[in-house]
Formats: sequence, C-alpha cells, structure tokens
Amino acid sequence: MRLYLGIETSCDDTSCAIYSPEEGVVAYRTAAQLDHAKYGGVVPEIASRTHMKTLLPVYETVMEEASVGPGDLAGIGVTNGPGLTGSLLVGLSFAKALAYGSGIPLAGIHHIEGHILANAIDGPMETPAIALVVSGGHTQLFSVERPGRYGFLGGTRDDAAGEAFDKIGKILGLPYPGGPSIENAARGGNAAAFDFPRAMRNSGECDFSFSGLKTAVRLKVEELGALSSQVVADVAASAQEAIVDALALKSVMAVEKTGTSRFYIAGGVAANGRLREVIRERVGNAGAEVSWPPIGYCTDNAAMIACASWYHLSAGRGDGLDLNTFPRGELVSWA
Ligand code: KG4
Ligand code: ZN
Repeated sequence: MRLYLGIETSCDDTSCAIYSPEEGVVAYRTAAQLDHAKYGGVVPEIASRTHMKTLLPVYETVMEEASVGPGDLAGIGVTNGPGLTGSLLVGLSFAKALAYGSGIPLAGIHHIEGHILANAIDGPMETPAIALVVSGGHTQLFSVERPGRYGFLGGTRDDAAGEAFDKIGKILGLPYPGGPSIENAARGGNAAAFDFPRAMRNSGECDFSFSGLKTAVRLKVEELGALSSQVVADVAASAQEAIVDALALKSVMAVEKTGTSRFYIAGGVAANGRLREVIRERVGNAGAEVSWPPIGYCTDNAAMIACASWYHLSAGRGDGLDLNTFPRGELVSWA
C-alpha cells in the first residue's frame, strides 16, 4: 500500500493526514486554533506560533494511528501557498526536514488545487468538469480537464464568498467564523425578508462581487437598530440566499457556456447545506451532475493535500529542498 503524508498549515488549522490511493484516508487529524475566535478573525502571528507548537504532536498522532514510520511513506505533500507566510513556513520547513532526513519525495501543493482534489479523496473525479472553489480567500470557477490541468473561468472582483459570510457574521454579532454561524442562524429565518443585492448578475461573465452585499447588510443593520433574534435570523437567511444565488447563477452560466456535464463544489463554503442544495438543483437543471467532498474535507484539511501529492508524485512532478512559500498566486496547470 502506497502512503502519502499531507501537511496543511496555510491559515489557522494545523492538519496532517495519511492517504493511500488504494485505501483512501488512513489517518487524519486537524487541530483547530480556537484563540482566533475572540479576535473575530485569524491573527497571523498567533497562527504561526500555534502551528509550531501543534504540528509535531498532530504529525505523531496520525503516524501512530496509521502504525507507520517515515520510512513507510511514498511521498509528502505540503501546502506551500497561497496563505499566511508565517503559517505556511512552519508546514513547509517541517515537510522539508522530514523529506531530507528520510529521503522521501516532496511535492508543494497549491492550496486551491488541494480543495479541488478533495473531490478525488473517495475515488477519481469524473472529468472534464467544472469546479466552483468557494473559501475564505477564494471564489473562482475553473474548468478541470483532468487533475493537474485547470482553466480559469472567472472569479471574484473583491471579497471571497467565505469572507462575505465572515464579515456579515461579524456585523450581526455572531461567533467567528461567520459561515457556519450564519447557516445556523438562517435556519430560523425568512430568506425573502430582505432583498440584498446580487452584484454582477448581468455582467455576462463568470465573475462575482460580494463587497456591495456586505455594505448593504451593514446599512440595513444600522437602519434596523436593536436586532431581535428573529431579525438576526431573517438578515442571516436573506444574506445567505444572496450569496448562494450569486454563486448558483454564475455556476449555471459556466456550465451553459462550456457544455460541461460534471460539476464539483470545493472549499470551506461547500460545507453550506443551502449552497449545496441550490447548486445541485440549478446546475442539475442546466445539465450537469453536481457533487462535493465529504463534509469534513470541505474546510481546510491535510487529506486533500495528501491526495493531491499522490497525483503530483505519481506523475513524476516533485520539488526539491529549494521549494518556497508564496502568499498569493493563481493555480497553474502542471500536467
Ligand atoms: O477553505 P477554508 O476552510 O479556508 C480557506 O481556504 O479560506 O474556508 C473557510 C471559509 C470561512 O470563510 C468560513 O466562514 C466558510 O469557509 N465556511 C462556511 C461554512 N463553513 C465554513 N461558509 C458558509 N457555510 C458554512 N457552513
Ligand atoms: Zn482553504
């Protein structure tokens, strides 16, 4: 059985996983950093320091769970960007030391490719496909010719969808991160209570904009004054609907423009049940079958990075010890 270790420390989750192409995920642990909640967002310095404390125990736990030592690994995959530099450096330095010390092949993985390939954890993706990547830092539509070959179809002009969820959560005084908090609050709310904007609706392109929505919600909340829990639920449901509607609209457009019959959702916002429901229905009606990763592998996790490293290394693409991190950068094809 070939075993690949994945390491993901691009933001505030310290994650390690062992993946086998034959067996799937063999061991997986993520230590979430809870300190950030009290600041209402990720504090980069705290994130990198916490990775330094947590990464070794998380690594040791998955190795123990899988009953393996470094010599049993066929490869190591590590997220080397985009993300917070201090956080990425902790994972990358650890991965390089392990690769060097044990003579294991190393592959740097683009975080967004990791999210897309989370859809391949439980079996190969059906391609050609379209992938909607919706996370805290990204909102993009890609064509996926096959793992390793991607085409950019469109993206956000300003805020990412997850960022919009987080900022609107903050405006409503809900716990961080805003995405799951808004989804929870929205369950008791009326999604038609407020008519929030769907920007770029008529742009004719597969692009998005969420900063106007965030401002519209802030102005509405200021106008409403003291908020009852019912009004919070109504604003949450209406804002969630606006985000989901905008994402669905351009997803349908991407399917219609390209004539693709397979569609994958990826990234932390894919954990949103309303998004999955609406995309499945509307993109389904446009002729594409829709799926998403197992819910635990939607938000940041090392299983997707381990899986991606198998694609890279088995195709002969790896990296040397001069591999560096990058804070920003588009996903480029390598296959
Ligand atoms: O992919 P991810 O874990 O980290 C990044 O790469 O950014 O995505 C995190 C984002 C956050 O903005 C969070 O609020 C959002 O995903 N998110 C959700 C849900 N769960 C996480 N957004 C909406 N509904 C959810 N259930
Ligand atoms: Zn992510």
